[in-house]
Amino acid sequence: TGMTTLDPGFGNTASCRSEITYIDGAAGILRYRGYPIQDLAQHSSFLEVAYLVIRGALPSAGELKDFADQLRTNAPVPDEMRTLLDALPRNGHPMTLLAAAVNTLAAYYDDSADPTDDDQVETATIRLLAKLPTIAAHIHRRTSGSEPIDPDPARDYVENFLAMLFGQGTGDTELDALYTRALDLLLLLHADHELNCSTATVRVVGSSDADIYGSVSAGVNALFGPLHGGANQAVLEMLEEIRGMGGDVDAFLEKVKAKETRLMGFGHRVYKNFDPRSREIKGLAADILARQERPDELFQLALELERKALADPYFTERKLYPNVDFYSGVIYRAMGFPTNMFTVLFAIGRLPGWIAHWREQRKDPATRIARPRQLYVGPTERPYPAQG
Ligand code: CMC
Repeated sequence: TGMTTLDPGFGNTASCRSEITYIDGAAGILRYRGYPIQDLAQHSSFLEVAYLVIRGALPSAGELKDFADQLRTNAPVPDEMRTLLDALPRNGHPMTLLAAAVNTLAAYYDDSADPTDDDQVETATIRLLAKLPTIAAHIHRRTSGSEPIDPDPARDYVENFLAMLFGQGTGDTELDALYTRALDLLLLLHADHELNCSTATVRVVGSSDADIYGSVSAGVNALFGPLHGGANQAVLEMLEEIRGMGGDVDAFLEKVKAKETRLMGFGHRVYKNFDPRSREIKGLAADILARQERPDELFQLALELERKALADPYFTERKLYPNVDFYSGVIYRAMGFPTNMFTVLFAIGRLPGWIAHWREQRKDPATRIARPRQLYVGPTERPYPAQG
């Protein structure tokens, strides 16, 4: 078919123009709306970056306060939804439950599910950002066998989320403040990453004029896969496997080179150099783990794994470097998150990006329904067997 070229995984196909995120994978550069990720990591906050990513400009102090207030007010979920969350299987993976719950928002809030109405999209934007942490925390409490905790309108976004997850905190206010800052930074570093698998999914679903809640729910499911957001959980499981091998990093790397397994948290479709997010996260991991009484065995293994992989031609020839997921799990674990919540944290971080892309696509006159072509390689016409 004339112009159709084969491009598995769309590695070479631009499906839209976008003003949100700039990545130069060869140079290891990442910017949201023009601002370098390092500057945002140092000076900004997750909510400010969420506003920036979605609205295109940094908020004034007043705008940021209004935004935070709106999220606070909208944090609770309706009682019927709490009943639904309570009824979900306790042994289900939190990502599966999260996707299901987000999908039902279109039903609980059918007054904000019309994708063609700007006011409704605005309302849905706030509701999604406000309620995702509440839903995630409720799921965590239920799947870990404890009572859910209501959102507290007096608390800030990230602080509130931690309180809904863990109750009173560690009992050490300084450490609690460090954890709040750490989670805020991790969410910020995940806020957008242009057309990664889940964001591309949100756009594909949205391109049929599906509502934003359903599109985001599809994004949650895409993120769950171990090659994408599920990698942060997979990294921890890999480090535990290596610990089970007596900490034999060399033996594990041999298995990777024999292609029996992948080095999780390494490699990226776009970065063929250091992932700038992984540098920020590695520094944070060192700060958090320095607070612990004993050196963290898994962090030590991660450091050794990174050092040995970066010195090995197998990895350097393929331009495999640590990505955003390599060190995040070590931090989440130190903060007391169970492994099955790691990818949920990624979802909360990535939500502003999903929303921003969905909204940008809706306003883009060049948008068409996503409908790739294929190269048919099946049988040519053949006769249906005669009935005997
Ligand atoms: N470990 C070992 N070998 C690897 C890895 C890895 N993590 N990643 C790629 N390779 C090898 C691959 O086997 C291939 O080698 P060869 O040329 O000999 O066949 C070569 O590198 C190119 O790999 P690819 O699969 O064509 O690369 P891709 O762009 O399709 O995949 C990726 C990108 C991120 C899926 C992949 O690097 C991977 O599976 N990494 C591990 C999972 C992971 O950490 N994912 C998180 C990505 S970052 C944030 C996010 O999206 O969540």
